[in-house]
Amino acid sequence: MRYTEQSLPVAVVSGPVAGLEADVVAFAAFEGEGVGPVASPDAAAGGRIAAAIGSREFTGKLGTTFVTPLSASDWRPARVMLVGAGKRSGCDMMAIRRAAATAALAARERRWRRVAFALPAVLPLSDEAQAAAEGLTLAAHYAGIYKSDADARPTVIEGLVAVPEASTSDDSASASRAASRGYILAACSNLARSLANEPANVMTPRAFSEIAIQIATESGLKADVLDEERLAGLNMGLMLGVARGSAEPPRLVVLRYQPARPATTSVLGLVGKGVTFDTGGISLKDPERMHLMKTDMSGGAAVLAAMKAIAALKPDIAVAGVVPLVENMPGSRAMRPGDVVRGAEGKTVEVLDTDAEGRLILADALWYARQLGATHLVDVATLTGAVGIALGRTTTGLFGSPDSWVSLVGRTANRAGDRAWALPVFEDYREQLRSDIADLANVGGRPAGSITAALFLKEFTGGLPWAHLDIAWTAWADEAQPWQPKGPTGVAVRTLAELACAFEAWPERAA
Ligand code: BES
Ligand code: MN
Ligand code: ZN
Repeated sequence: MRYTEQSLPVAVVSGPVAGLEADVVAFAAFEGEGVGPVASPDAAAGGRIAAAIGSREFTGKLGTTFVTPLSASDWRPARVMLVGAGKRSGCDMMAIRRAAATAALAARERRWRRVAFALPAVLPLSDEAQAAAEGLTLAAHYAGIYKSDADARPTVIEGLVAVPEASTSDDSASASRAASRGYILAACSNLARSLANEPANVMTPRAFSEIAIQIATESGLKADVLDEERLAGLNMGLMLGVARGSAEPPRLVVLRYQPARPATTSVLGLVGKGVTFDTGGISLKDPERMHLMKTDMSGGAAVLAAMKAIAALKPDIAVAGVVPLVENMPGSRAMRPGDVVRGAEGKTVEVLDTDAEGRLILADALWYARQLGATHLVDVATLTGAVGIALGRTTTGLFGSPDSWVSLVGRTANRAGDRAWALPVFEDYREQLRSDIADLANVGGRPAGSITAALFLKEFTGGLPWAHLDIAWTAWADEAQPWQPKGPTGVAVRTLAELACAFEAWPERAA
């Protein structure tokens, strides 16, 4: 499998929107407002916008759209779209991103190609331009690559971000920079979505590692792929234990970004769970939703895609990405419940449930990130079903220590559009992981299942500042939204890349 980009870079345009060469020009419209803010397109549309607002055919609710042709001869776009952005008072980057994605998806549905999105001028211009570029680019993700019917393929959208007419050329220049940032972040989110969507017969640990090498070569990252021999040489018994049940050999992908002139001695270590398929192993899962376990490498895909974004955004901090890759299968050599395995750091683990495999491979990978010199750690993993019971389908579980590091990661995530919320990792929960015969058990029972999983990982962080994102229920959208189809979401890519770029705001290396 070779990954090729589906989206086109977004261009920032200035001057009157009436003069834009576009199939449709979309205006964000806010709930409870009259035609005032969109008076100019309304005049060109013969008053049909005012009529739609007056009759409440269009209310401005987030994710709704209204399209009407433009008849005035002084308007070049063929039609205008109003796209609901919710209440003006609640407008943030999330609302702009979603409105732009809604507009582009609605246009793509109708096979229009050039979509202009007029910024509403509510937020700082560069924030709006970045969020709009992200939304337009996210709409380019396409899931049907294995369909034979070429006509089913959607048109490739060309996105234009129109800055307000009054903008200075300095404003436009900074909007352009912000939009190209947004494009990079969203195109890399789409990369993660494509990888997560690949079936597990294609996306094996070896296939993932080959794609990682391809991406590293194209982006100027250093790549190293450890095979089972090298993993054995490093005594990574937790990772090798999970891999035993599969005919597919494991891999550990290491990607390194090294800036020319680092502005800090800190090194960000990103670790992503790469289980290319999770049957549960001998502790076999129910068949009902098992097919979705092809997405159990979403955390690894997020780390790979974030590394690609970081290589393009070029922050002045070194970053190491580590992705442990295994297939969790119940083969005849598979680990049995009750087996004891030893990790690279020397700790022994009693594997009471072979379906709690993510924490085992992450434990060895977190240790390896420390050997590479990481000073700050973030891991991303589809780790526990329990996180969805706590936080539902929209919010990623956030864990870690110290609080200053965790809250920075949380703020970065929420700005990046990856909602995250912190849950505690009180030491009191640790006794649930007690084993009668080994240092640790790999499961802590049903209560607080996401927290005990996080505490298990913490054992392998060597006391470094560490944050853990449990994306088990946010990596995959079960239902379509106007701004996001059903399927992989690319969650955490933008968070990780933005975190590297924001290193100047990091808390002091905390104890
Ligand atoms: N990959 C799963 C977690 C998961 C569940 C991801 C649902 C996406 C959707 C993970 O490896 C797992 O099986 N976790 C177990 C842990 C349990 C055995 C302690 C779970 O959540 O049931
Ligand atoms: Mn599992
Ligand atoms: Zn899993």
